[in-house]
Amino acid sequence: MQEITEKISLLRKEKNAVILVHNYQLPEVQDIADFTGDSLELARLSQKLDCKVILFCGVHFMAETAKILNPGKIILIPDLHAGCPMADMITDQQLRREKEKHPGAAVVTYINSTAEVKALSDICCTSANGIKVVNSLGNEEIIFTPDKYLGSYVERQTKTKKFYLWSGYCPTHMVFSRADIEKLKRVHRTAEVLVHPECRIEVQEIADRICSTSQMISYAKDSKTSEFIICTEVGMLYPLQKENPDKKFIAGSPNAICPNMKLNSLEKILWALEDMKHEIHVDETIRKKALKAIEKMVAI
Ligand code: 13P
Ligand code: SF4
Repeated sequence: MQEITEKISLLRKEKNAVILVHNYQLPEVQDIADFTGDSLELARLSQKLDCKVILFCGVHFMAETAKILNPGKIILIPDLHAGCPMADMITDQQLRREKEKHPGAAVVTYINSTAEVKALSDICCTSANGIKVVNSLGNEEIIFTPDKYLGSYVERQTKTKKFYLWSGYCPTHMVFSRADIEKLKRVHRTAEVLVHPECRIEVQEIADRICSTSQMISYAKDSKTSEFIICTEVGMLYPLQKENPDKKFIAGSPNAICPNMKLNSLEKILWALEDMKHEIHVDETIRKKALKAIEKMVAI
């Protein structure tokens, strides 16, 4: 393993590459990152980097977002099969039809989406800023895509607007149940429950805090509590523990594993840098339209 990490370090210098890593990635991948973070942080950061290549260790829509924001940089992903099933739950044709049904509505699209769907949207959001994004809009009606659970959370927090929720969801976050969390709470009585907004509503309802992956890290740091039940992908336990070595983190479900996130390995990262693969491309017309929706979000 040491040999691979040394080779990666040499190559990243040689190719003027920066390695961005999402919080759900394998521990050994997080350990070789130049930067780790949630979707919003990594998107923002990609624009500030002075480099030729960004190797994005996450899923496809994250690397694609980096390409939309940085057309002049080479964006690589270690495994092209690392997709996000939720992002594929709405197509551009379906969104066009939905827009025709609600002509006065603003389209708010979760960053977990394809470039084509972003291009048809008024603004993007992430799990960290959905409420702020919706509150920034003058429209009374909102088409929210593709995640119905994040959409429902934002709807409950921004009460006065009418929401049309697309019915997408994250299969990984579906495994959490209220009954399981209540059982864990009976054992870990002082634990706070941190829930990602992709979880089902019954789980959101018993959360002490609903937040993005990186917001979980800062919340745990600031909290006086020393035990937390974590309702998001299990990879999250690694950065939480690393940043808060004196606190205890318990998985809300050991089965919450995103198989796509786990496709990126150190070997594939090395091959990606050696062969400059797999490069992400986005059609220029689509990119420009998608950029507007992302830039509007980043500006908030
Ligand atoms: P975050 O932006 O909170 O890291 O979430 C991304 C994601 O895909 C969650 O499943
Ligand atoms: Fe997509 Fe869910 Fe995996 Fe996040 S955890 S990348 S939403 S499938």
